[in-house]
This record gives sequence, C-alpha cells and structure tokens, in this order.
Amino acid sequence: MPVKAPKQEKNNSDIANPKLADDGKRRVLWADRDMPVLARIRQRFEKEKPLKGLKMSACLHVTSETANLCRALVAGGADLVLIASNPLSTQDDVAASLVRDFGVRVYARRGEDTDTFYAHIKAALEHEPTVTMDDGADLVSTVIFATKGMFEKIHASIRPWAQGMKADERAALSKRILGSMEETTTGIIRLRAMERDGVIPFPVVAVNDAVVKHFFDNRYGTGQSTVDGIIRATDHLMAGKSFVVAGYGWCGRGIATRARGLGANVIVCEVDPVRAIEAVMDGFRVLPMKQAAKEGMVFCTVTGDRAVIRKEHLAEMRDGAVLCNSGHFDVEIDLVALKEMSKKVEEVRENVEEYTMKDGRRIYVLGQGRLVNLACAHGHPASVMDMSFAAQALATEYAVKNKGKLEARVHEVPKEVDAWVAKLKLESMGVAIDELTAEQKHYLSSWESGT
Ligand code: NAI
Repeated sequence: MPVKAPKQEKNNSDIANPKLADDGKRRVLWADRDMPVLARIRQRFEKEKPLKGLKMSACLHVTSETANLCRALVAGGADLVLIASNPLSTQDDVAASLVRDFGVRVYARRGEDTDTFYAHIKAALEHEPTVTMDDGADLVSTVIFATKGMFEKIHASIRPWAQGMKADERAALSKRILGSMEETTTGIIRLRAMERDGVIPFPVVAVNDAVVKHFFDNRYGTGQSTVDGIIRATDHLMAGKSFVVAGYGWCGRGIATRARGLGANVIVCEVDPVRAIEAVMDGFRVLPMKQAAKEGMVFCTVTGDRAVIRKEHLAEMRDGAVLCNSGHFDVEIDLVALKEMSKKVEEVRENVEEYTMKDGRRIYVLGQGRLVNLACAHGHPASVMDMSFAAQALATEYAVKNKGKLEARVHEVPKEVDAWVAKLKLESMGVAIDELTAEQKHYLSSWESGT
C-alpha cells in the first residue's frame, strides 16, 4: 500500500522511522568499505571545502551508496536536501541514518504515494538550491514547468504551490541554479529534448554519459542487481529458463549476460538494427516481442521506452510468466492493459503480484513494474556506484568551479574525470597497467612515422 506522509513542518525531514538509524548507519559504513574512490574525494573535500555554503538538492535513489555520495558532498561544505527519485527504492534505515548521523535533510519513505513524492519535490525546491542533482530529471523538469508557467504539466498536488508564486519568484527558481547533474539515461534523453527545444535554463552535466559511469554502472551494476531482484522476489531457478530481455543497451547487455551466466536461455528484443546485430553476435537469439512473448518465462524490459510489453504480447504469454522492468519509469509494461485482461490481482508474495487473466492464465509482476533491482533488491553494488558517484561529486565540483562560465545546455563530464576515477579504481583493486613509452607516445601521435 502506498504510504501517505503526515504533515511536516517546513525545514524538517520526512522519513519513515528515525529508530532505524542504527541499522542504516551499519549499511552506509558497509557500503563505504567498497567505495574507496569516493572516500578519497570525501577526504579531499573535507580539507578544501569546494562546496562551502552551497545549497544543494538531490533527487536520487535513497540507498546506502547514495548516502556515501551525500557524505562527500556534506564534507565539501554543501547544505544538502535529499529526496527519493522513485517511491519504491528508498531504504528507510539509510534515510534515518542520513538525518541522524550525516547532517542531511531527507524527504523519502519507501512506498510513498504520488502526492507525497511530489510534496518532496516541492520541499527540495523550497530549499532554494543553487545546485541540483537528478536521477530522471524530475527536479529540472519541475523548475522549467514552474518558471515557464506550464502549470498543467506539474502534478496536481503541488500545482497550487507553483501557481501561488509570483512570476519573479518562479523565475528565481531557475536563476539561482548554477548547475545540475543528471545520473541516468532516461534523464539525459529528457534533457537532450529540452536542449533541442531551447528550454534548458542553466548548465546540466550529463554524469550518466561519463565512461566511468555507464560502461560499468549501467552494464555490470544493473546486470547483477536486476537478476538479483528477480531471484529475491521469486526464488526461481534461472538455469534452463527462457529469459527475455527487451533493450540491448548498456543495461540490457549486462542483464542478458548475467542471466546467461546462470544458465538461462536468453532472448533479446530490440528496435535498433545495430544493437540487434550486436546481440546476435554476442550469441543471443533475437526475436520480435510478439514471438518472444510465446516462449519467455521471465521478461525484463530495460529500454527507457513505453509500452514495450503491451496487450498483443500479454495475449500470447504462457501461464506463469514473470514480468519485470529495470528501465527508469514504470511505463515499459502496460499494466493497465494487463489489469483489464485480468479477473483478479493479488499480492501472493512480497513484491509479487499475481494477475489471473480472464482465460485462467496467471502472470506475475514484480515490484509493480518499477525498477526491479531497487524495488526487489538493494540496487547496484557499492563497488560500481563508487565510480558513478565519484563522477557525480567531481562533476559537481566542476560546475561550481566554473560558475557563470558554462552555457545553459547539456555538458559532458570532463575527460580528466574519467581518467582519474578509472586510475584510482584500478589502484584500489590492486591492478597495475602498462604505461606508454616515450617512443610509443610519439608513434601514436604522429602521422609521419611509418610502420
Ligand atoms: P540505452 O539507450 O543504452 O539502451 C536502451 C535500448 O533499448 C536501446 O538499444 C534501444 O534501441 C532499445 N529500445 C528502445 N525502445 C525499444 C523497444 N520498444 N523494444 C525493444 N528495444 C527498445 O539505455 P540504458 O543505459 O541501457 O538505459 C535503459 C533504461 O534503464 C533507461 O530508462 C535508464 O534510465 C535505466 N537505467 C536503469 C538503471 C537501474 O538501476 N535499473 C541503471 C541505469 C539506467
């Protein structure tokens, strides 16, 4: 059941249970043991205070790894508010510990209802941030809708708040923001569309597009944690299962490879011919969803697109098929159609809903079609988030250092950040690599050298 938040005083946190803080702290510190690169940044930030006095609002999954990013930002001097970027991904114990132990104001409760989710977005903006951080562009979108008076696009529960502001107060929402960071592919897609339409009011750094982020987090992090979420929710054996992955992007590659590693027979569905050919050459069967629907026993969407599994596919599925999604929004599986085709929906196990269709077939949906790795497991392992959040922290420092110099558009994370994070990560893993000799450097940078 979605949880409605009690009325909160302005400037308070809104968390489920402060008594969970001890458990949360243990988890935060456990994750910290696997986040050496971020720890190095935190130590430097503590000395140099590059974010001193900076008001920041972050809309991220409230997990133990995010908590360690928050610690680095606070060590750098930021006055930080954290809200949830997804109603089902919050770890309530971590939220409690962040408030009690780490000086962060948190507005997040696992299972929060939609009104509460948006009340938290409002709280994050009422903090009057000069830097924002998004996982899915929710803060940036709300700022743009409010400043442009596009009230119909703002969720009804906070619309009166936006409408109640004077035009100059609404304009101030975006004017004071010197930069924003974006964590995920779906957010970047939205931001690129905003850039195309000329509505981005401040510089945004595409942290997702840093190589040290999406090569590893999207592929290995989502790969492992998605399969983990499916197994935790169902306890099913993967060996011999027919496992359909929709989307062979960075995340899809990881999920398909991990599922195959457990012995599943993986089928890939794609719309991009290049990605599809890659899947074929990686040794997967590639089928249109209409055909895959007949064969699959587990389906996982991870496209960033909508209605990837819809009525015509649901009509073909076998009794007992398991559906889940690891893409950012819960729109990849058409649950409205599934409900219409069903005579009964029942939660038969934590995070598992059984839809009994009118023809008697049963279809199981995990985590209400929300990110299965966060709704049914604990999200990405800390070791991979170490790199993503190191990039986040350094991108924030970059935006602050370049205040007023960056144009209002989407920016790449500087290449030095990729190189620095990768080098430190390797060091922390005890892996040494070769260095170019002077002769090799010359050879590789010259067009005149022969063979
Ligand atoms: P990507 O752009 O690399 O891959 C998406 C793939 O889906 C593309 O190859 C595209 O051609 C394909 N696709 C689009 N529509 C399709 C359709 N109707 N049927 C089949 N394939 C289709 O994106 P990436 O990085 O793999 O991200 C995918 C989604 O996962 C995004 O929503 C992203 O925000 C989210 N994400 C989720 C994470 C998690 O923790 N679960 C972590 C990182 C990203």
